[in-house]
Amino acid sequence: MDGGPPEPAALERHGGNLEAVARRLGCRPTDLLDASASLVPFGPSASVRRVLQAVLRTPAGKPSPLRDYPDREQLRLRRAIAAHHQIDPAAVLPGNGAAELFTWLARDAAAAGTSLLPSPGFADYPRALACWGGAWSPWPLALPQPGIVVWPQPLPSAPAGSSQALWVTNPHNPTGQLWSRASLEPLLERFVLVIVDEAFLPLVPGGESQSLLPLVASHPGLVVIRSLTKLLAIAGLRLGYAVADPARLRRWAAWRDPWPVNGLAAAVGEAVVGDRLWQERVQRWVAAEGPWLEKRLQQLPGLTPLPSAANFLLLRSESPLVELRERLERQQRVLLRDCRSFDGLGECWLRIALQDRRNNRRLLRALRQEISR
Ligand SMILES: Cc1ncc(COP(=O)(O)O)c(C=O)c1O
Repeated sequence: MDGGPPEPAALERHGGNLEAVARRLGCRPTDLLDASASLVPFGPSASVRRVLQAVLRTPAGKPSPLRDYPDREQLRLRRAIAAHHQIDPAAVLPGNGAAELFTWLARDAAAAGTSLLPSPGFADYPRALACWGGAWSPWPLALPQPGIVVWPQPLPSAPAGSSQALWVTNPHNPTGQLWSRASLEPLLERFVLVIVDEAFLPLVPGGESQSLLPLVASHPGLVVIRSLTKLLAIAGLRLGYAVADPARLRRWAAWRDPWPVNGLAAAVGEAVVGDRLWQERVQRWVAAEGPWLEKRLQQLPGLTPLPSAANFLLLRSESPLVELRERLERQQRVLLRDCRSFDGLGECWLRIALQDRRNNRRLLRALRQEISR
């Protein structure tokens, strides 16, 4: 037995587990079309690969981001991120993906009191809160109705109660709903701590105009989290950042291990975080492929795609979809996201990450074949 502490079946529910699924199916990871993790399918960009190649070409014995310990202050990376958003570098803390930052954020949230988590929502927030014994309660969201919806959606008003921290995902995961900045702003007065996870926001066409980043400087109780793993397709390299009150970030920096962001991730982040042409290209892809795929999914019997502003679509059915998802894996080598890890969803839901046109067609063909079996 070489199984370690994590339970493989439970981990697989989070999507993007190419190695584990390939092992289980007895195929190679490259045989699989992975629509379970929502990464930009045509990345990493040439500029990301150029940075990595330049690092690898550095002669042995010479200083390089591969050989040397990363700068503990992460100064160049923080400055590059700050310049991109036109904010103070002291208000930026890079992390080993957004996921690492949730862990420190959750320590603050647990100390503040009970967290309110919109539900269905991202399972990593309760994971992070559990590290510190943090209490939380769900805030059940009305799911978006199929059909034409005007974006950005206003957030329904928060329930009355004694929660002290609020975790918002914008756009929301798994629904892809975009919340308007105007609807989020009043919440800053109601909660001691408001966390806005904008992991997918840079991929949303026009999404940046709804970001809460401009409000951080005037609201010490606001933390905005960004991830570069989806936008740049570097989930393996890992890079994210928090934007928050500098005193809060100094506290987190003292808690974590000395080199949480590796030198290669920092070098890539420094060079490409401000790449607006890439971001525009990604948003054009979402604007084209999202409606294209949604329309075709609507034509499949028994499946209803919900409207989404992001690079993924949530699918609903009247009957369980577990078997369909498993057949897609086994027969078609197509992976969709099992939604059982999202509190409040269950067997009748799947999430699909947008692909390029060729693979969106492959996905539709696979679904048609398996539905008609
Ligand atoms: C809403 C949301 N935030 C954050 C993350 C984690 O991002 P990272 O890969 O930067 O840790 C994910 C990953 O799926 C996510 O769905």
